[in-house]
Amino acid sequence: MLDRISGLRTVETGSTEAEPTLSVRRLSKSFTNGPCVLSGVDIAIRPGESVALIGANGTGKSTFVRCLLRLIEPNDGDIRMFGLDVRALTSRSLRHLRSRVGFVFQRHNLVLRLSALSNVIHGAQARMSSPGSWYQALAPSRVRDEAMTCLERVSLDGKACARADSLSGGQSQRVAIARMLMQRPEFVIADEPDASLDPRAGEEIMRLLHETARERGLGLLFISHDLEHAIRFSDRIVGLAAGQVALDVRSNNANPTELRKFFAEERP
Ligand SMILES: Nc1ncnc2c1ncn2[C@@H]1O[C@H](COP(=O)(O)OP(=O)(O)OP(=O)(O)O)[C@@H](O)[C@H]1O
Ligand SMILES: [Mg+2]
Repeated sequence: MLDRISGLRTVETGSTEAEPTLSVRRLSKSFTNGPCVLSGVDIAIRPGESVALIGANGTGKSTFVRCLLRLIEPNDGDIRMFGLDVRALTSRSLRHLRSRVGFVFQRHNLVLRLSALSNVIHGAQARMSSPGSWYQALAPSRVRDEAMTCLERVSLDGKACARADSLSGGQSQRVAIARMLMQRPEFVIADEPDASLDPRAGEEIMRLLHETARERGLGLLFISHDLEHAIRFSDRIVGLAAGQVALDVRSNNANPTELRKFFAEERP
């Protein structure tokens, strides 16, 4: 069922060169009293690879990325991340795994009454012990310095003390990226980080995500409905349809016109 668009070359996944950061096989998920959303998804992401996940509304993209960290429990299939069998992890090991993955959502989920800097400091939560440390005034200076460096990376150091509820949508999303960097993740998952932003801010966010992942050698799996972003900021594009991977192409072989056909195809 792969590569149903003429002119686009299918990519071989699961290279044997290096163990994939993420390897998913036959992943299935249905909700109680609902239809089967995912029915045997296979995907492998190599270290440092950037993959765009595309598909029509309701095809299960968000469900898929949530299943990866068992924020939603899958019904069936194998998930291996960093060599770990994710479905077999105890709740404690699962918490540790989640701390190794940076998540960026369409809704940035900042704590609105706190400063941008405090929100970034929250990114270190998994590796710090004292709850008081989450506040900018109480955090150790090395933590504050690291959070400032993360804010500088997203060009928002000038807004460190601004309350999150005073920031624009684009600025808030940049703080969310700084918070994710503060987490020192080993892999990044982003679910429509460019949605609900104007075209310029959306592109800026995607560029930041892509560049910061590259700088740190991190794999990136992002969902986007913007096909130009999907092409520009990924190495590979994977399309979900009818509960399965229905497209898997190298980004440098793709163009928006061809990709648009993927959405127009009749599915069983
Ligand atoms: N908690 C839930 N309970 C029941 N059904 C759900 C739940 N979460 C998602 N679904 C259903 O699963 C299907 C896939 O939803 P999902 O949000 O994963 O799609 P998506 O591809 O991310 O869509 P979009 O592009 O609109 O974000 C939809 O039909 C949705 O209604
Ligand atoms: Mg979604």
